[in-house]
Amino acid sequence: MKPLNNKSSHIKRVVLALTTVGAIGGLFSNAMATTPEEDLQNFREYFYKKFPGVPLSEYGNGVYGIDQKSRETWEAIEEFPPYEIDIETGEELFNTPFANGNTYASCFKNGGIGIRQNFPFYSKEHKQVKTLEQVINECRTKNGEKPLKWKKGKIASISAYMAYTSRGKATHVKTPTTPDEIKWYERGRKHFYAKRGQLNMSCANCHQDNAGNYIRADILSPGLGHVTHFPVYRAKWGNLGTMHRRYGGCNKQVRALPLKAQSDEYKALEYFHTYMSNGIEVNGPGSRK
Ligand code: HEC
Repeated sequence: MKPLNNKSSHIKRVVLALTTVGAIGGLFSNAMATTPEEDLQNFREYFYKKFPGVPLSEYGNGVYGIDQKSRETWEAIEEFPPYEIDIETGEELFNTPFANGNTYASCFKNGGIGIRQNFPFYSKEHKQVKTLEQVINECRTKNGEKPLKWKKGKIASISAYMAYTSRGKATHVKTPTTPDEIKWYERGRKHFYAKRGQLNMSCANCHQDNAGNYIRADILSPGLGHVTHFPVYRAKWGNLGTMHRRYGGCNKQVRALPLKAQSDEYKALEYFHTYMSNGIEVNGPGSRK
């Protein structure tokens, strides 16, 4: 197995140790057939045990919810948030009419305001999970406009503005119950627990089994609450990115090929991943390292 980078043999050992712990954790997490509600409860209880005293609401702050030291730096950054300008750009784009005179508001319930918490959702009509970014682009094509690129730029700004209008509302993905909803959910769950890439690690190996542990210079965030602050401004990117941009980056972490943004696989992952964060307030857009 190759190390994540070649800086030192210490890193090699860290990765090996993570992988070994992960192998056990991964097996365990896949062993039982459970309902989405049971999964949600188990997922939550896992983190409650691991981080006693951290309330559910804090998980929306990622690693800063569990690490006081990095939290202080982050709070200072949030005083003049690097995404502020994106919210303004997003608002302007959101309210600028298409060539046909319609606006984005025409494509969403409540004119698109304060609804972020309901995404992604399963569309009975189209028999598929729909993400916010997908509906933004569908709105464009329906109105005769070209779709936007998926991972950054305008779509991320519009998504940021919409998230901003939903701040404080509890994430509310409808519990999957019908066979097709369950199928999408299970696909996403499988992605989260399946090992992949040259490092042979699952999302859960890092964001569940090793949450709170260091990997290189980063402390791994808990998978619980991961989704609530997207899109996110990352210092590393120097701009705003969507959830699927981050998924691609995390697939690459383990030397797996990233999938296409808005592919069914990532949509399914987002569906499972967001359902696990139900009840945590939307606090997007956010800022991270
Ligand atoms: C080898 C370890 C590793 C694996 C495997 C991994 N990630 Fe990550 N991930 C990281 C690191 C490191 C970060 C940055 C620090 C942090 O916030 O956890 C990160 C960050 C994230 C974030 C952003 C968290 C935030 O607060 O903004 C999300 C979301 C995420 N990962 C999802 C996933 C998903 C989904 C998978 C599986 C497809 C995955 N990760 C697999 C290492 C990993």
